[in-house]
Amino acid sequence: MINFISSQKVFNLSLKDSSYMFKVDDFGNLEHLYWGKKINGLNPNNTYPYLNRGYSSNHHQGSRNDTIEHKPLEIATYGNGDFRESSLILQMADGTYINDLKYESHRIYSDNSPNQGLPTSRNKEMSLEVTLKDAYEEVYVHLYYHTYEGLDSLSRHLEIDNRSGQELRVEKALSMSLDLPNQSYDALTLSGMWAQERNIDRFPLSRGTHSINSHRGASSHYTTPFLGVLDKSTNYHQGQVHSLNFVYSGSFEYHCEVDSIESLRIQMGIQSLNSNLSIKPNHKLMTPEVILTYSDKGINGMLQAHHNFVNDHILPATPLFKKPPILINNWEATYFDFDQDKLLEIAKSAKEVGVELFVLDDGWFGNRNDDTTSLGDWFLNKEKLPQGLKMLSDQIHNLDMKFGLWIEPEMISMKSQLYQEHPEYLLREGKRTPTPSRDQYVLDFSSSEVVRAIYEMLVKVFDELDLDYVKWDMNRPIVQSYSMITKAPIANFDYMKGFYSLIAMLQERYPKILFEACAGGGGRFDWGVLNYFPQVWTSDNTDAIERLKIQEGSVLIFPQKTMGAHVSDIPNHQTGRETPLDLRFAVAAPFNLGYELDLSKQDARSLEKVKDHNQWYKTYREETQNGRFTILESNDPKNQKAWMIESLDGKLITLYVYQVLASANAPLWRLRLNGLNINARYKIDDQIYSGSELVHFGLLIPVDMNKDFASKIITITLEEEV
Ligand code: DGJ
Repeated sequence: MINFISSQKVFNLSLKDSSYMFKVDDFGNLEHLYWGKKINGLNPNNTYPYLNRGYSSNHHQGSRNDTIEHKPLEIATYGNGDFRESSLILQMADGTYINDLKYESHRIYSDNSPNQGLPTSRNKEMSLEVTLKDAYEEVYVHLYYHTYEGLDSLSRHLEIDNRSGQELRVEKALSMSLDLPNQSYDALTLSGMWAQERNIDRFPLSRGTHSINSHRGASSHYTTPFLGVLDKSTNYHQGQVHSLNFVYSGSFEYHCEVDSIESLRIQMGIQSLNSNLSIKPNHKLMTPEVILTYSDKGINGMLQAHHNFVNDHILPATPLFKKPPILINNWEATYFDFDQDKLLEIAKSAKEVGVELFVLDDGWFGNRNDDTTSLGDWFLNKEKLPQGLKMLSDQIHNLDMKFGLWIEPEMISMKSQLYQEHPEYLLREGKRTPTPSRDQYVLDFSSSEVVRAIYEMLVKVFDELDLDYVKWDMNRPIVQSYSMITKAPIANFDYMKGFYSLIAMLQERYPKILFEACAGGGGRFDWGVLNYFPQVWTSDNTDAIERLKIQEGSVLIFPQKTMGAHVSDIPNHQTGRETPLDLRFAVAAPFNLGYELDLSKQDARSLEKVKDHNQWYKTYREETQNGRFTILESNDPKNQKAWMIESLDGKLITLYVYQVLASANAPLWRLRLNGLNINARYKIDDQIYSGSELVHFGLLIPVDMNKDFASKIITITLEEEV
């Protein structure tokens, strides 16, 4: 519910259990008032006072009690005396800045506008548009706020409308900015690198600015467009959390600035450094959405609110995805060294143990026998598959399995037919040597001609096959963002629009294909990508022990069914570690399950186990993949981990418990199942436990867990609610 209290000029966004409020101040600025647990009103005497704090800029001559650099604001422009981080820096052709944005009008409406080439949250409840106008130039900024029924999330973004008659240089156009009141906060962020994505970092925020950004052309392995702001006392089960998630997959930035009066400014949006953005006269620029989520139920409350939001408002509704199929991918089984017989052998052995989808990874096209050639040549490698892809896909379908294919459409190899014919399609700065990465280069996706050419090549392949699934990879960062077609720098924002337009065109033509995203694993895993691709390959690191950490970080913002998790071979290809098959399955089982090994080479005992594992997964798949995920706290979090998934009807609970290394004479492990209903009774094997016992006393984990690389999956059923 959104309403405007005209007597106080206050906008009140009343969410499920929280409120978000701001007002138009006496000078026409948008002053942020409150974001937190639901309140039923705000007395005007209780809001930020006009104070003379000395040596500060004021709005008018003669009024010293309105120092703009201390006021909590909804948008922060540059050059007007707000010396904190700006969120919007717009420069006119004469070098002056747009910094006198004043309230002009607003409207409250219901928004069903289609996605305008950017990922967009779906099923909005109500929307608010507040229009600001510069006092001197015909430049308008529309701030958008959207709410969602029954949730404590809202979305923010903005649009700049340039009617000034001059080109406007956009130095910075973040989607949102706000100032939280003075208090001590911790930041929660997810950072990493290739094969080490999304480590959880928690650290205190102190005076100054902490900024995180990616200018790699994608959200990247290194950073994630997510920020959590926690009260000091917040833990996994209780306490306040404010979070931001960006619905965008390109370069981004966010800032947390603790200012001179200990307020916290938080902001998020597209990357400013060399953004190459400008707005021509009579043109507009719309920024992507940031989703703001509030929870007073700790980190798990935030995680669950994120999952609800992504499930209902971000993910596309793909029929295949209701029960994510168990897949087998030939990458780690064969790399580039395969032929039709080998692939069929893998598929048949997988079929026998219950796998449902076979994915042919890299190496099926052009002359692609290693990773130095052929990207851009989206036609069959006849040497490897002389009978054709159609024959292979038919044979897979005859096994009653689904068939999927790998592509990397944004890339080009120098050794390719496409490069011979269209060297100008490659992004590079004029005559400078293009910067290689994995011996490949990036196509100019800011050009609709290039996007169309790739689309047409892919359509030729896809039309011939009855494809069920496509894995869309992207294996390098973007540098030298300069178009050889237009002979001008390109904006990463325009590249991203090209990327989104290609996936949108393909999805329109092939509505039944399940598209999975990948970027060398999880190098472009964000809510923007999830708007088109319902699942993502979480990491190229398939080691079960390393995956504990990667998946625990990822699940803070991504629902379990969106995260690809594969059982791979031992010794593990990334770490060389040998872990039991049961552990490898138990680590993948809560997520979107797959296999990444040659099952035809496994012994009979292992295959029996895999069959049992898959049977178990299928029995509980719907409940676990769509259920409520909780990270349980352990005394030794690096060594012992436990996750719990409760089905949405509360009738089935699956508990996943892991121990990395044993220790002699180890303390007992009593696991509190926080989140269960304390007024219910539950059954584990043939024993009955009260909910209050499981929550407050905890479940004693059997001592046989005190082994290296140990795991257990415990199934709990609801006996009765009392
Ligand atoms: C990187 C991906 O993450 C892998 O799974 C695999 O598809 C390779 N690319 C293929 O080149």
